[in-house]
Amino acid sequence: MESMRVISIFMTHLSNYGNDRLGLYTFVNLANFVHTWTNLKLQTLPPVQLAHKYFELFPEQKDPLWQNPCDDKRHRDIWSKEKTCDRLPKFLVVGPQKTGTTALYLFLIMHPSIISNSPSPKTFEEVQFFNRNNYHRGIDWYMDFFPTPSNVTTDFLFEKSANYFHSEEVPRRAASLIPKAKIITILIDPSDRAYSWYQHQRSHEDPAALKFSFYQVITAGPRAPSELRALQKRCLAPGWYATHIERWLTYFPPYQLLIIDGQQLRTDPSTVMDEVQKFLGVSPHYNYSEALTFDSHKGFWCQLLEEGKTKCLGKSKGRKYPPMDSEISRALKKQCVVLSRYGPFGGVNTEPGLKSPNYMS
Ligand code: A3P
Repeated sequence: MESMRVISIFMTHLSNYGNDRLGLYTFVNLANFVHTWTNLKLQTLPPVQLAHKYFELFPEQKDPLWQNPCDDKRHRDIWSKEKTCDRLPKFLVVGPQKTGTTALYLFLIMHPSIISNSPSPKTFEEVQFFNRNNYHRGIDWYMDFFPTPSNVTTDFLFEKSANYFHSEEVPRRAASLIPKAKIITILIDPSDRAYSWYQHQRSHEDPAALKFSFYQVITAGPRAPSELRALQKRCLAPGWYATHIERWLTYFPPYQLLIIDGQQLRTDPSTVMDEVQKFLGVSPHYNYSEALTFDSHKGFWCQLLEEGKTKCLGKSKGRKYPPMDSEISRALKKQCVVLSRYGPFGGVNTEPGLKSPNYMS
């Protein structure tokens, strides 16, 4: 008779055994007991080989999905006293890039109860935890970017990573770790966003953006050089707004999502910031109409400092570049209407009863 092979892999939880060998002792003795009193042939492997075996059997588990350890009381009870789940953001500013995310960031950190992450040396100011391989560094790595709040109820930790908006994996990962978090996105006309992004790449000397004109970027077809097609995708894909928002809404309820009109953020930021404060439920109410001023030299709203001085965003925000050619603008706007409504992958979910998120305009 063919013998039956059953593989059970027991995972032990290292932090449980930090100060106590009882778990390990029990485990070894259980194995000895089974070995002595049954016909079962127990076999094991060294930990690394065991891990390989495990992922051979369960390849889908190779990509972790972190959950909040504090959501489970049993976990909280055994966790070290030095550990906390309070160092996780209450809201995320998810982008997309070039819509005014840095201005929103500057305005947010002016509020006395809103606290951002400390800067990441690798990705400049953004942590970019949920979208890249940083995710595999785990939640302790992520939480180290945030201070322990002095008042958990009133302090609002947040993180702005402008590439979160269009990333395939971010909404699922964020919803798993911080399901109650609020999500803020800013939208502007997608053709203006694409053009601003193209100018941004040129000023960062992206070789492809220096080589190809904006017209070439937006009109490149399937036979265009791969370098140009890659640039086109990076330029236009974040602008497929409906596709990305639909993805966010499969993981977060609409009332947790705020969509800011980026044009209004640019021209009337204090009204936008009032809405943002209301949406977050943050207190005390901060008076942005007193704290912001229009700087005619910069051509944008800036933070008002003492003695009438201003703190504006640096040269890389609100860049000077020639306006978009009117022909290109017309063609792109037409294409954007189609793409932003239907995306490249088909129609958006128009089920009746699908509640809309919080729009600002
Ligand atoms: P341009 O540089 O193309 O004008 P982001 O911070 O997401 O990269 O967005 C940059 C864009 O924010 C700028 O694009 C600018 O138009 C817009 N913006 C909105 N309010 C601003 C402000 N107060 N100061 C500077 N730029 C602002």
